[in-house]
Amino acid sequence: MLWTAFLAFAAIAEARPWYEKMYKRQGGMTMLRFGCSQVVIDRLDPLVNPGSIPSPHQHQIVGGNGFNASMTTDDVSKTASCTTCAFSKDFSNYWTANLYFKARNGTYKRVKQLGAANQFSDNFSTQIGGGILVYYVSAAPGKVTAFKPGFRMLVGDPTRRTADPKMAKSNCYRCYTGPNFGGDTGAPCQDSKVDTPGLPKDACKGGIRSNILFPTCWDGVNLDSPNHQSHIAWPKNGPANFLSLGGDCPSTHPVRIPQLMYEVVWDTTPFNDKSLWPADGSQPFYFSYGDNTGFGQHADYVFGWQGNELQIGMDATNCMGAKCKTMANQNIAAAKACAVKEVVKEDKDAWLTELPGMAMQMEQAI
Ligand SMILES: *[C@@H]1O[C@H](CO)[C@@H](O)[C@H](O)[C@H]1NC(C)=O
Ligand SMILES: *[C@@H]1O[C@H](CO)[C@@H](O)[C@H](O)[C@H]1NC(C)=O
Ligand SMILES: *[C@@H]1O[C@H](CO)[C@@H](O)[C@H](O)[C@H]1NC(C)=O
Repeated sequence: MLWTAFLAFAAIAEARPWYEKMYKRQGGMTMLRFGCSQVVIDRLDPLVNPGSIPSPHQHQIVGGNGFNASMTTDDVSKTASCTTCAFSKDFSNYWTANLYFKARNGTYKRVKQLGAANQFSDNFSTQIGGGILVYYVSAAPGKVTAFKPGFRMLVGDPTRRTADPKMAKSNCYRCYTGPNFGGDTGAPCQDSKVDTPGLPKDACKGGIRSNILFPTCWDGVNLDSPNHQSHIAWPKNGPANFLSLGGDCPSTHPVRIPQLMYEVVWDTTPFNDKSLWPADGSQPFYFSYGDNTGFGQHADYVFGWQGNELQIGMDATNCMGAKCKTMANQNIAAAKACAVKEVVKEDKDAWLTELPGMAMQMEQAI
């Protein structure tokens, strides 16, 4: 036991000093940080375009196999039978837009995702290539209320193409300075010297990390809202500071929920040859919804932890990383065996003359 505690603490102190600071300040904390490998890439969006097959833009989806175009607010932990996440009772779905490289000749190629940087001796999350790293943070043990079955939310605005200063701490990019996640230190979105609010303008030697944080306050009543956002809110001090979870919740949204954050590492390194970049010097990386600024980045969440499992995790003291002694795990092979069948059949790896769904996007002006 002591040995494990020592190892965990040593890993915290060495690799990410900010963990240690936070840990000391709060007298303990829980930060679940775990990978989910890909469950499917598909042009579906059960939140924004329920039932629409296809939806206007493509997503990469991870988590439980209960995902479909018209999934309801029924408890997805009961409709799913497997998950791609390290925690085996997490049947939630997590998704973001895909990233594409636009070559000088005008064609697009999908950018693949890497696994996660190695932290906490977690060799599950390093092997999720093609997936998403998910964080759930409780500022102090027992101080957050886990989401309820059927809960879902969206953060970000796919139509935005200019910086929103308020969002700098909740949507940011890290340009990795070298292979093996070079420069992966410090809390995400907290240091404007290394984290940019838009996509990095230059070639990144180790790829591009994208972090997106969700609001941490809930109205305590609604599982969803028409825009999938108004039932949740940022704390009074604005978008959360990852270290403090952003202060008090407003009276309209009094329930403190876990700080959910997604981390996606795009392997842009096959596209670093500047002779392939647009001749006018414009940014060659485009999200699947037609955005090469990165300001329109958005993320979707459908809660699906079984029973009380997430609350148990959030109430635990000092569970860090992809393991927590009170929570059930699975190995990477089991995770990778879980999949959802692609519904909208599109070539995911060809050079394309336009982004998937571009005509539909123009029509709907997204
Ligand atoms: C989609 O999921 C819902 C449950 O959320 C289920 O009722 C429905 O049958 C599923 N649809 C398909 C096509 O699998
Ligand atoms: C466009 O450029 C890419 C990158 O050099 C190349 O692989 C692809 O074949 C080209 N496509 C066309 C139609 O020229
Ligand atoms: C992952 O780590 C565990 C123990 O930490 C070890 O038993 C296992 O062999 C490792 N697996 C891989 C694929 O490295």
